[in-house]
Formats: sequence, structure tokens, C-alpha cells
Amino acid sequence: MRAYRLCPAKAKRLGADEFLRANIFSLRSTCDGPEFTFCEALRVSANAAQVAASFEGPPDPDLVRIRDLVYEEAGIFHPDSKLRLLWERCGRRMQELKTETVREYFECLTVKPNRQAELVALLNEITIAETCFFRNQPQLNAVRDVVIPKIIEAKAKLPIRRIRIWSAGCSTGEEPYTLSMLLLEESERRLRDWSFEILATDLNERSLAHAKKGLYGSYSTRNLSAYYREKYFLPEGEQLQVQSVVRKNVKFSRLNLSDDARMTFMKSVDIIFCCNVLIYFDLASKRRVIQHFYNKLLPHGYLLLGSSESLYRVTEDFRLVHLPGATAYVKGERSQAGKKVS
Ligand SMILES: C[S@@+](CC[C@H](N)C(=O)[O-])C[C@H]1O[C@@H](n2cnc3c(N)ncnc32)[C@H](O)[C@@H]1O
Repeated sequence: MRAYRLCPAKAKRLGADEFLRANIFSLRSTCDGPEFTFCEALRVSANAAQVAASFEGPPDPDLVRIRDLVYEEAGIFHPDSKLRLLWERCGRRMQELKTETVREYFECLTVKPNRQAELVALLNEITIAETCFFRNQPQLNAVRDVVIPKIIEAKAKLPIRRIRIWSAGCSTGEEPYTLSMLLLEESERRLRDWSFEILATDLNERSLAHAKKGLYGSYSTRNLSAYYREKYFLPEGEQLQVQSVVRKNVKFSRLNLSDDARMTFMKSVDIIFCCNVLIYFDLASKRRVIQHFYNKLLPHGYLLLGSSESLYRVTEDFRLVHLPGATAYVKGERSQAGKKVS
């Protein structure tokens, strides 16, 4: 049988409609994936046809139920336009569990004995782990040059000289390790005699396991300067291992930002980084998370979001401050003057 080069990931990315319109033969030259037989290509095409059919007309009610479940559990909302993405992620789990229909899979998530574990496994598929070291250099410069001096000033008279940072939605660890390196550098300057602690939390167990290993490839380390690479990493094969001096300041744990009970037990912190996480939340779940951040942030604290994120129309409890090259949020006067925060 003649073989065609057809990459399944590419077929998925194309989406069903586009895939069906596309000529299988013409895909041959554009993909660098493993060799697929013509039969396999036809099977992918038939699956794609099924998917296309299921996304015409009203959405599958069982998929909508799964969407609601994910939303209630983790605050992550898939609008109708993103249902196909959710379907694909469920598809990976369905393949693993060998379940045939979305209804059957919904039952795995709701009535089967290991439903809680299955929900965790689905959330591992759904959450997007995109990150890298030194992802937002202007923001880090602003933290080093403005935020940290302000915190030192606010805490100067306290008997314990400690800075605590929370990296909420830390993914595979690049963000908290970057912060650890930044503070280690400052320990040789402004933060001499200070200790620091970075609480790094995420929903995704797989990302956290990766983070704890501290081993990274070229994609994650693409923004790393030679200075940091040599000072804080050790080569391990093709990868780089974060040194223990950086790792020892970071404590990883699984935390769902939508879990109100667990959020209540978080420690108070000086700085919260919650970058590129709340973009997946709808307004109501964003508001709940931001309320927890408000409660956990010390009065002089700073909240930092991703460069494309803002709290506009989310809350008036925080006030936007402009830093050189970045923005941050501090607790607003209105809130500090005694507005009830539940
Ligand atoms: C795009 S990554 C951002 C990583 C890092 N903060 C950065 O900016 O590079 C988003 C992270 O948010 C996490 N996340 C999504 N929903 C969450 C939730 N409900 N609770 C905790 N973490 C969540 C995902 O698992 C993922 O690791």
C-alpha cells in the first residue's frame, strides 16, 4: 500500500471542515509527521466528517454538560465557539478510557467510582501550559526596580525581614523559578539580610510534576541570558537543570483558583503574580478569584497580571498603577477605607 505523509496533529489543527475541504493528497507535502497509510488517512477523514457533523446545529447536550462541569470545577469557560476544542480534549481521555460516546464519558466524570480522578485528568488536558523563563522582562524589571523597594520600605520596621510571593497558575515552573533568580540577584544588593519564599500553585498535576523536576528544554529557556544560564543552571544532556539554590525557595502545590475553601487557607503575601491565567475565566469566576487575591494580599502588596490582562470592569477594589514598562494593581483607597470584603 502506498504511504502518505500525514501528521495527525496537523489534521486536527486544520479542523474538520477545512480538513474535509482539503485534498488528502495535497497534505502529503505539507506535513512532516510520521508516515500514514492511505487507509489511515481515510479513517482520519471519516472521523473528521463525524466531528464536522456533530458541530453543525445545536451543540451535543452531553458536551454542554461537560462544559458546565469544567466551569463549576475550575472556572474555565468554553463558549460555543470553543466547544470543538473541549471535544478534542475529551477525545484524548475517551481514547485512553476506551469510551465510545460523549454521554459515556460524561458518566465517567459524574457517576463512576473514580469520577474525581477522571475530572482531574480532564483538567490536565484542558489547561494550557504555555510559559517560559523571563516571559515578561519589562514587568520583571519593574518588580525589581519599583515593587521590591516599595515592599522593603513598607516592611523595614518589622522584626522579620521576609518577602512572600505567590505565583498563581505557575504552569511548569518557569515563572516562579524566574522570580527566585530575580530575588537571589537582589539578595546580593537590596535584599541582603532578607529571606524570601515563593508559593507556586497550579491546577494541572502534570505541569506541577514537571515543575518539581526543574528540567527544561530549549523552548522554555529561549529567553534565558548567558548570565542566568551559567549561574543558575546545569546542563543535563540537551536540557538545563535548575540548580538547588533556585529551587529551594519555591514551594509547589496543587491549587484550584476556583476552590474557595482552599483559597481561604492560602498565606498572606506581598506580591501575587497571576499572569495569563484569568484569560480562560468568565467574569463571574474572575471576580471570585480576584476577591481572594484581595484578601490574601498584604496592604502594601502588588498584584501583577499578564501583559494583555486587566481588571477593567472586574473590580474596583484594586487600583491600577503605572510602572516603567509595566502595570500592576494595588489595593484601592475605597477598599482600605473599610469596604466590606467577604
Ligand atoms: C498559560 S499558563 C500561564 C503560566 C505562567 N503564569 C505564565 O504567565 O507564563 C496558565 C496556567 O493556568 C493554570 N490554570 C488554569 N485554570 C486554573 C485554575 N482554575 N486554578 C489554578 N490554575 C489554573 C493552567 O494549568 C496553566 O498552567
